[in-house]
Amino acid sequence: MIDKLFNPMLVVLTLCIQTALFCSCQNSSFSCIERERQTLLKLKQSFQDPFCRLSSWKGNNCCIWKGVSCDETNGHIVKLNLRAPSRLISDDSIFGLNIITKNSFLVPPEVNSCLPGLRYLEHLDLSGNDFRYRAIPQFFGLMKQLRYRNISNARFNGTVPNNLGNLTSLRVLDLSSEDQGPLWALRADDVQWISNLTSLQHLGMAGIYLGEARSLFQVLNMLPSLLSLHLSQCGPDNSHLPWHPINFTFHSIRHLDLGQNNFAGPVPFMLQNMTSLRILDLCGNLLNSSVQNSFGNFKNLVHLNLAANDFSSIEQGLLSIMGNMCSLKSLDLSYNQFQGEKIGNHRNLSG
Ligand SMILES: *[C@@H]1O[C@H](CO)[C@@H](O)[C@H](O)[C@H]1NC(C)=O
Ligand SMILES: *[C@@H]1O[C@H](CO)[C@@H](O)[C@H](O)[C@H]1NC(C)=O
Ligand SMILES: *[C@@H]1O[C@H](CO)[C@@H](O)[C@H](O)[C@H]1NC(C)=O
Ligand SMILES: *[C@@H]1O[C@H](CO)[C@@H](O)[C@H](O)[C@H]1NC(C)=O
Ligand SMILES: *[C@@H]1O[C@H](CO)[C@@H](O)[C@H](O)[C@H]1NC(C)=O
Ligand SMILES: *[C@@H]1O[C@H](CO)[C@@H](O)[C@H](O)[C@H]1NC(C)=O
Ligand SMILES: *[C@@H]1O[C@H](CO)[C@@H](O)[C@H](O)[C@H]1NC(C)=O
Ligand SMILES: *[C@@H]1O[C@H](CO)[C@@H](O)[C@H](O)[C@H]1NC(C)=O
Repeated sequence: MIDKLFNPMLVVLTLCIQTALFCSCQNSSFSCIERERQTLLKLKQSFQDPFCRLSSWKGNNCCIWKGVSCDETNGHIVKLNLRAPSRLISDDSIFGLNIITKNSFLVPPEVNSCLPGLRYLEHLDLSGNDFRYRAIPQFFGLMKQLRYRNISNARFNGTVPNNLGNLTSLRVLDLSSEDQGPLWALRADDVQWISNLTSLQHLGMAGIYLGEARSLFQVLNMLPSLLSLHLSQCGPDNSHLPWHPINFTFHSIRHLDLGQNNFAGPVPFMLQNMTSLRILDLCGNLLNSSVQNSFGNFKNLVHLNLAANDFSSIEQGLLSIMGNMCSLKSLDLSYNQFQGEKIGNHRNLSG
């Protein structure tokens, strides 16, 4: 509607109405802070936008640009959702072409450093875009007011900057990089900074190399609000597991993904007290001996994935394990070493 008002053709006709609107709509979401609009325009210039995702980024009212949300009371930009939808991959191995990403942006970090200028931004989603294996920019650690940051599968390379530990308001930090491309392009050797993120509820680091992060679980244990933790394909093994009993604050954790790592032997003792878990994924490790009765403690489990390990028996039988798990909907035991245990590959217990 405001767009129409700024159309010169309509200016004369609507002058009176416009004045009236401006008086009565002081607090409408349709005001856009000019300084922030300029920041967005700088940002736009820094992107290559082959699929014209930012074609709506023009005109005075940046609050109605695609992916932009403003605070309804003060007009500041609070949310920037530039998530790229699914990728379309050209076959560069055959044709020698670059990988073409559907709806993707290129973001040269040096230009893009205007982003922290959006000082009221709480939600930033750049996931799925193509940063061409550049490093995660240091200035990402300056946006202290952020509560949600998703830069998953955005083709970053190098070490995750420690100064993300300054983002103490974060509820959600998704750095996962499980996409195509080189495994472990991103790594984090020193993870101490994570303990600073005391509001964190969701942490995604899947596909990031954490093999050198010796204190990983001790650090994660300091996060009092963690509900969801994704550490598949990160490379840790038994040496990362805490060797002394640990008073896990992630007692209350709901979703834990430790799939496709190198945990070997019995099910990690560390899990013992995480009885609030709803989803536990341990697939693709080297866990052996027996599926222990200790899973009986997990009364709230809904999905349990133990596939592709070396389990060879089930202590006291399948039924005794499932006996306490009233909420269980799926249990995946496929690709293990069971012999003569009368169980299907994948039991769907729902319905
Ligand atoms: C202005 O704000 C008040 C209180 O928040 C709200 O009731 C009213 O609908 C708003 N007016 C407009 C035009 O947004
Ligand atoms: C981050 O974005 C991806 C899509 O690019 C989405 O699948 C994922 O759920 C998001 N993570 C969070 C924690 O919202
Ligand atoms: C990632 O960065 C390292 C140096 O830190 C470099 O050796 C490597 O080639 C980079 N990977 C890609 C895919 O650009
Ligand atoms: C941000 O983090 C870095 C690295 O951890 C630290 O040196 C710096 O003091 C922090 N800055 C602020 C303003 O807290
Ligand atoms: C942790 O937060 C404090 C206070 O904000 C800051 O001074 C410090 O540099 C942060 N540490 C890291 C490792 O980011
Ligand atoms: C589980 O909790 C009990 C009681 O609080 C404690 O004694 C035990 O050491 C904990 N186990 C682990 C693995 O943290
Ligand atoms: C939890 O463990 C940490 C470090 O291991 C220790 O400093 C703290 O006192 C423990 N808290 C409780 C309540 O046992
Ligand atoms: C189970 O795994 C542990 C750790 O890798 C190994 O030492 C042990 O030999 C394995 N046991 C069996 C029966 O395969």
